[in-house]
Amino acid sequence: MIDIEERYKRLTDRIISTIDGEGDRDGKLRSICEILSKGIDHYHWVGFYLVDHEKEKELVLGPYVGEPTDHVRIPFGKGICGQAAQSEKTFVIQDVTTQDNYLSCSVNVRSEIVVPIFKGGEIAGELDIDSHVRGPFSKEESTWLEEICSLISRIM
Ligand code: SME
Repeated sequence: MIDIEERYKRLTDRIISTIDGEGDRDGKLRSICEILSKGIDHYHWVGFYLVDHEKEKELVLGPYVGEPTDHVRIPFGKGICGQAAQSEKTFVIQDVTTQDNYLSCSVNVRSEIVVPIFKGGEIAGELDIDSHVRGPFSKEESTWLEEICSLISRIM
């Protein structure tokens, strides 16, 4: 049984190898989704939303693993993803039923974390993770996911 810090470190190492390895951006992002969703038990949907620079403040769904979602395009400000994009801040929602400005992806989702990804000081996308468990996210975990997202900046 490995402790959580060791698990984060091993997953980070695999993500760095993916970022530095062969393949195009979307293939790498998809591999990162797989590493995270297989690596942490309470991650049930893992995906990326990317800023669509052709549109005025809009996110478009990128690579993901998990159930298909209706929310392929999300305007800034809408839902947890849109709020994270607008404010450029990490959103940790331990219980989605407490949220008014929330876009439901599946009835099974109980909690969600959204972490912005920056490129050259501007928001370029975000990592979105849904969980079927209520209240699963720790402070160490959100800090770790922010570190992962700053590594991902390199391929954005
Ligand atoms: N729940 C998100 C929408 C994205 S889906 O969960 C994949 C939100 O409120 O923005």
